[in-house]
Amino acid sequence: MFRQPLHDRGVISRYRSFLPVNDTTPVVSLNEGSTPLIHSAKLSALTGRGCEVFIKYEGLNPTGSFKDRGMTMAMSKAAEAGKKAVICASTGNTSAAAAAYATRAGMECVVLLPAGKISAGKLAQAFVYGSKVIAIDGNFDDALDLVRKIGERDDFEVVNSINPFRIEGQKTASFEIIDELGDAPDIHILPVGNAGNITAYWKGYEEYAAMGKATKKPRMTGFQAAGSAPIFYNKVVEHPETVATAIRIGNPASWDQAKAAIRDSKGSIDIVTDQEILDAQAWLAANEGIFIEPGSAASVAGLLKCLDCHREPCATCPVRGIPEGSTLVLTVTGHGLKDIDAPLKHRSFAPLQAANSMEAVLHTLGY
Ligand code: F0G
Repeated sequence: MFRQPLHDRGVISRYRSFLPVNDTTPVVSLNEGSTPLIHSAKLSALTGRGCEVFIKYEGLNPTGSFKDRGMTMAMSKAAEAGKKAVICASTGNTSAAAAAYATRAGMECVVLLPAGKISAGKLAQAFVYGSKVIAIDGNFDDALDLVRKIGERDDFEVVNSINPFRIEGQKTASFEIIDELGDAPDIHILPVGNAGNITAYWKGYEEYAAMGKATKKPRMTGFQAAGSAPIFYNKVVEHPETVATAIRIGNPASWDQAKAAIRDSKGSIDIVTDQEILDAQAWLAANEGIFIEPGSAASVAGLLKCLDCHREPCATCPVRGIPEGSTLVLTVTGHGLKDIDAPLKHRSFAPLQAANSMEAVLHTLGY
């Protein structure tokens, strides 16, 4: 029986022939990808029309988010080009992945973060993986503008999703979904921030369909946080705000590509409020045992919103009008442990108190 070598199990090794690598590309990997596609019986039942809903749990990547898929490609190509340093702007997950993969590649990593707007877990990652962390007095969009300028110099390779190799790596999530389901889903729902991921998924779906590996392509359905929804409002948001700091972005780099994906797939873009995001995060943890960060919960919040919607007809609704028995995939992009402050701040989780005895514990439990 063929066994893949232990040292080579990431997305480049799995999908080598679909990616711009060659035999001389040094593969920088942490065995990312191959994340679980989890069937949600409860969400499926909630659709009320025999649909099957699956959760693509990207929080189980090595640094806890989907960014690792793109980073293995970006970093491998930077290494191939002989780069010694990489730079990125981030709301926290790109920087965590860049820091880890740069260390793996033996490169220096500089991350520019919006001061005070990064969750503690993600900030800790940037530090412990050994990157140089610079907090700027501005938001993500400002940080990305700076990175673009610095990237014009030769010293640094930019590893934000404006680097096309990031998109190449991230498209492998669509390949995995098709490989596992045997075909593309009918609807794909995901959170949208800088809009690289929706671009990447659509590229993956298109490529696999063109190669005959899928008979259809899904409607790409994006959800933005209501306070950071430039694509939905078709207008740059100067001061984006949301509890979902991962997607606190007012001027997405892949705006045009995201619009094209939505248009070409007959998909849609919609918004969810911070409360809907926090409720969806809590719902998924309590009902399906899947703990995701607030930014990720935008996709679940979006589906729940649409299922609960009584507007008739709703132009942007991804659920209404879909045929019975459709398949839906929701990408949840980052692990809940990345940002424990958000749920702790918005709900009280005080433990019950008991003395140090079995009787006291049982008494507290009402037995
Ligand atoms: N979900 C999470 C957890 C994210 O960290 C991001 C983006 C997104 C969704 C949105 O993906 O930008 O491709 O549309 N995070 C970036 C970062 C901006 O710096 O970590 P997108």
